[in-house]
Amino acid sequence: MDGLVSAIPVLDHDAVLAAVDPSAAIEQVRDAFIRHYRGEWQMPPKVYLLSPPNGDFRAMPALGDGLALLKWVTSFPGNPAVQLPTVSGVICLSDAATGVPLMLLDARSVTALRTGAVAAVATQALARSDAQTVGIVGCGLHGAWAARCLIAAGYKPGVCHDPRPEAAAALAREMGFRPGTRDEALAQEIICAVTPGHEPVIGVGDLHQGAHLNMLGADGPGKAEATAEAVAACVLFCDEWTQAVHGGELTGAVEAGLVGREQVTDLGAVLAGVATGRPTPEAVTLFDSTGLAIQDLAIAKAALTAWREGLVSAQTINL
Ligand SMILES: NC(=O)c1ccc[n+]([C@@H]2O[C@H](COP(=O)([O-])OP(=O)(O)OC[C@H]3O[C@@H](n4cnc5c(N)ncnc54)[C@H](O)[C@@H]3O)[C@@H](O)[C@H]2O)c1
Repeated sequence: MDGLVSAIPVLDHDAVLAAVDPSAAIEQVRDAFIRHYRGEWQMPPKVYLLSPPNGDFRAMPALGDGLALLKWVTSFPGNPAVQLPTVSGVICLSDAATGVPLMLLDARSVTALRTGAVAAVATQALARSDAQTVGIVGCGLHGAWAARCLIAAGYKPGVCHDPRPEAAAALAREMGFRPGTRDEALAQEIICAVTPGHEPVIGVGDLHQGAHLNMLGADGPGKAEATAEAVAACVLFCDEWTQAVHGGELTGAVEAGLVGREQVTDLGAVLAGVATGRPTPEAVTLFDSTGLAIQDLAIAKAALTAWREGLVSAQTINL
């Protein structure tokens, strides 16, 4: 049918956030990990396209629940200095049965929401059952969404730390945290590291009994937020092993020969109930988040449902 024109809804940044709130994002992302672990959702490894010296592009496909998704997204850590976002891009959500595009979505908001959501999902699965207070190290876009999602999941405000005092103060004000030093943030029961990953912000001496760490910032080659020795001292979990050893928090410890595959448990296995999470109350658990396309599919699917139910309006374009 050459010449057939179809109108595609486009959800911009604010429409995505209006369509899916943090509590819904947490539920959807947890379900996505379980479905992927069971083999019901498919996800080839993401492809990195380096753009030195400024950053990289990632192409991230996933398929599940009758939908197929491609996220074309960036990490350009120097962008905030020129008033541009670190992460930006576009998601195309298609009908998996026909290949027809169903929706375009802003990738920045979907990424922020699903990254914050996985911090909450991992914390619920791996932190001590009595853990409450949250420390955020790195209070930029994704640090803020980690805080929002953890608070939505019922955890308690703790300490925000950022070398940019205004970033820590703004997040602290919004979420009821207090701004503080790195040490104060790392002394909390649940810690989220969400820095650009240029230099380690966590060493062995920073680990305290019973802590849970969500390592969110190291999501590409050459990035790390903890020293390899600190990583090796923790009980380890990852979102996806292939990604974690290629460009995650585990990469340095694996390359140094300190950590092997057998020491790392997939979060999906824990969520699906086939692997043990935290072994003891005293253990220090570390979750390496590299960011998965199934997380994006979880949010995009929820956004499509919200639009179909008339809960959010969209622009349209004709293709
Ligand atoms: N795991 C994932 O799924 C995922 C998803 C999106 C982004 N990321 C990564 O997360 C990182 C942060 O992204 P963002 O969009 O929030 O960036 P951002 O620039 O908005 O925020 C980064 C923050 O870290 C702060 N920071 C820098 N050095 C620090 C240090 N030594 N200690 C404490 N804070 C420090 C900066 O001042 C800034 O506020 C990037 O590396 C990005 O690629 C990961």
